[in-house]
Amino acid sequence: MAILDKHAVLEKNVTLLAVCSFLVVTIGGIVEIAPLFYLENTIEKVEGVRPYSPLELEGRNIYIREGCYVCHSQMVRPMRDEVERYGHYSLAAESMYDHPFQWGSKRTGPDLARVGGRYSDDWHVAHLIDPQSVVPESVMPKYGYLKDKLLEPDYIGEEMATHRIVGVPYTDEMIEVAAADFRDQADPDSDYDALLERYPGAQVRNFDGEPGVSEMDALIAYMQMLGTLVDFSTFTPDASR
Ligand code: HEC
Repeated sequence: MAILDKHAVLEKNVTLLAVCSFLVVTIGGIVEIAPLFYLENTIEKVEGVRPYSPLELEGRNIYIREGCYVCHSQMVRPMRDEVERYGHYSLAAESMYDHPFQWGSKRTGPDLARVGGRYSDDWHVAHLIDPQSVVPESVMPKYGYLKDKLLEPDYIGEEMATHRIVGVPYTDEMIEVAAADFRDQADPDSDYDALLERYPGAQVRNFDGEPGVSEMDALIAYMQMLGTLVDFSTFTPDASR
């Protein structure tokens, strides 16, 4: 074939082959990279997704500190078995305020992206204190000590300011009242209307049932909101993208 004969010229000339390969790779690279410079955002905005409340953010810190991500991913892949087990596949927007993200590549335990609301707070307390007491075959370690460590929201405002630097839209007001919001979310007797306006859908409870805000409270507040922000009964993917 004539076209293959022409290609033979390329194959027999190392310099020509190198120059042409370079051109092809360059064009391919530009086609992939250039659009990212003028696209404003690569993540589709989804209704309901909001930054973490101060208590949830602190719970997330404890989750990371304790290495929960070593055994648990937070990303439901769009495959039938996963969707049937965990619920709607994860959307990029659902982890857009995660720094760092918690997608994970290994699951010793189940995916936790949609664990919010699946169990009661009491179940979480019992499970964290002694996983085998509720799931006898569990290999998950015990985390009962989280209940004994009380938290003071001394640095939470600064931490939110840091997250703002990397793009989380915390307002000045949110940062100013962070310490109060932190305490109020774990106290059902507090005046939490403004908190709910700042963080729609935030759950206000005494999560571990004990006085004071413990690490256990923060961790359970975080787990109970995972995957609950988007209403999938009304969500439709934006087909224009
Ligand atoms: C050594 C691995 C390992 C670590 C570390 C670990 N887990 Fe687990 N986790 C498991 C396994 C295995 C299961 C399934 C059995 C069970 O429910 O206990 C599980 C189950 C769970 C469940 C129930 C999920 C469901 O859908 O049934 C939650 C919630 C959970 N873990 C939270 C945590 C949190 C929070 C941490 C960190 C404080 C953590 N895990 C650390 C292994 C681990």
